[in-house]
Amino acid sequence: MRVIKSVNEMAEAARELRAAGKSIGLVPTMGFLHEGHLSLVRLARKDNDLAVLSIFVNPTQFGPGEDLQRYPRDVAGDIEKCRREDVGIVFVPGADEIYPAGFGTHVEVEGISNVLCGAIRPGHFRGVATVVAKLFGIVRPHRAYFGRKDYQQTVVVRRMARDLDIGVEVVVGTTVREPDGLAMSSRNAYLAPDERMAALKIYRALASARGMHESGEKRADVLASKVKEVLSEEALIKVDYVAVVDPEDLRPLREVTGKAVLAAAVRIGKTRLIDNVVI
Ligand code: PAJ
Repeated sequence: MRVIKSVNEMAEAARELRAAGKSIGLVPTMGFLHEGHLSLVRLARKDNDLAVLSIFVNPTQFGPGEDLQRYPRDVAGDIEKCRREDVGIVFVPGADEIYPAGFGTHVEVEGISNVLCGAIRPGHFRGVATVVAKLFGIVRPHRAYFGRKDYQQTVVVRRMARDLDIGVEVVVGTTVREPDGLAMSSRNAYLAPDERMAALKIYRALASARGMHESGEKRADVLASKVKEVLSEEALIKVDYVAVVDPEDLRPLREVTGKAVLAAAVRIGKTRLIDNVVI
């Protein structure tokens, strides 16, 4: 396994792999790896000759007052996990290499970037789309792997790749959960024990609305109210949004006649957590 820190060296390694006819699967991450990230590595390993995992805490996707400074980091531990998962290259660029002086180009995916999390975190998906476009340009993967836990991100990245004819296949992996249901997230490390207990309600709330839908409830407002009702049982939870949206374009639905995404974002203390279920 190689650990590459320089953009040029990564681009050169990718050129050599492509010239040798090898397929590349990219897993972009911000590090502090958990089983959710590693499940994407396993998908990338299965479909491609080589998996590249990038670790970069991307400053442009954090808003003022968000957790950029305290975002959890453990590059040495991450590299060890990658070694065990048979990752081919761990790419760990520095911020000054990704955003050198004079950097001025950004990728804006209109419409779908400004709803749900994008409405609460202005500029977040512009930062995500920009860094992912750059990683695609440097690593030149055949396929790139993203987790369903960040549902809106998968829609934004897929649209970006399509609109700009980037020629990378975007593959979405299922949400990996703790045994008690909480979606794995690097940010779970912020939670104090009582907050960790409270966080259980997020998936429980989504699952109970999913249960209502399975019993025949189609009205989106009723399903969303159910999620809010269960979340409100927990005083530590402040709701950012609960939404029932179209899986392709994130348009709010009034009735669930086909597939839908039931998504929630909450704050527990200073920690913001998101989760969703596809119904
Ligand atoms: P990060 O939060 O580190 O997540 C990296 C990838 O792992 C994302 O595709 C995310 O959806 C996926 N992931 C996180 N938790 C997961 C879980 N419980 N189950 C399955 N997949 C999970 O998302 C980002 O970083 C950044 O925005 C990034 C795409 C790297 C751009 O900076």
